[in-house]
Amino acid sequence: MRSRSYMGKHDARGHSLLIFSFLVCFVAACDRHSSSPSDDAKAAGLSSADFPEISADVFKEMDGGVQLTDDEIKGRNTWILWTAGNQAFWDRLAREGYGLVDLLKTLDSRKRGHRFEEMGLINEPGSQTAIKPDAFGLWLDRRIGLATSDIDEKVYGQSSGVIGFRIYPNPAFDETARKNWNPDRYYKDRSYYDDPKLVRPYRVGITCGLCHVALSPLNPPTDPESPNWKNLASAIGNQYLREGRVFVFDPQPESFFQQMLEAQPPGTSDTSRVANDHINNPGAIRAIFDLDIRLAEAVPETITGGALSFPGGAVRKVPSAPEF
Ligand code: HEC
Repeated sequence: MRSRSYMGKHDARGHSLLIFSFLVCFVAACDRHSSSPSDDAKAAGLSSADFPEISADVFKEMDGGVQLTDDEIKGRNTWILWTAGNQAFWDRLAREGYGLVDLLKTLDSRKRGHRFEEMGLINEPGSQTAIKPDAFGLWLDRRIGLATSDIDEKVYGQSSGVIGFRIYPNPAFDETARKNWNPDRYYKDRSYYDDPKLVRPYRVGITCGLCHVALSPLNPPTDPESPNWKNLASAIGNQYLREGRVFVFDPQPESFFQQMLEAQPPGTSDTSRVANDHINNPGAIRAIFDLDIRLAEAVPETITGGALSFPGGAVRKVPSAPEF
């Protein structure tokens, strides 16, 4: 069961890297000679022991209340809460992406009432629309539930009010950054928020749940903008996610990029951007089941042509079922 539905922390890191490289290469100019991005955890001398999995069954109402084993519980928690440190990457994109991606703006609480309709995002139960901006002048959802001590915020960040996004304090937000911080300009003034030197108070990380957690077809919410945990399923795949609208907060309607993103059907993600096939062919976010049976049929894939320009070598390793 575990291998069918839920994955551990180490697998999660691999997939985040995939998404990481897709966006680095897609949004910014791809420079394969640049050095690897810094790893906060390694730089701070931390090891995997500093990032313990959560054994409490914090999402037990999900998935029809199915009884899970201890490992499966840890896997589901990882799936929904663990960003693998990718907040460093998303922060860099916000700074260097010329206003293209800025997840703190995606999370603007004033959008909460129509997030599902507009972006296909799933509001996290136990949070509410902000009634006023926070201490930094940012409009972020208010957390009213799930502030359980089982979720260590140093490891998993804080709830953002949206499934799949976690918020962390930005370690680079020092005294100088604080003096320079102007929330009004951050929301309204392109010359301010486009500045690659602008340090935001928080960084936002993404978990696997962003694309894979869905409204439960067997127990859908009365209002899709306001589900309860029992209305959510963790591995069905979000068929409503509008990737372009989630990741590009300030689209230029006439741009090729924007047209391409809008052509992408809801519930899809163009994971083949990594291989740079230049085909606009986003794939459906799939339900995850019977993985072990399908992996038994898998063979390593040899990459050829321009895709070889990407870091990572020529053969993509597909794990066989027993390793998985
Ligand atoms: C940006 C959206 C997105 C995020 C975030 C995401 N995935 Fe996926 N995932 C997809 C899409 C799209 C597919 C289907 C790809 C295909 O079939 O070509 C997929 C497929 C999968 C599959 C194969 C499912 C099957 O049964 O064939 C697994 C396993 C998986 N993802 C694991 C993960 C893990 C682990 C993470 C977090 C580290 C993650 N995903 C995060 C979009 C996402």
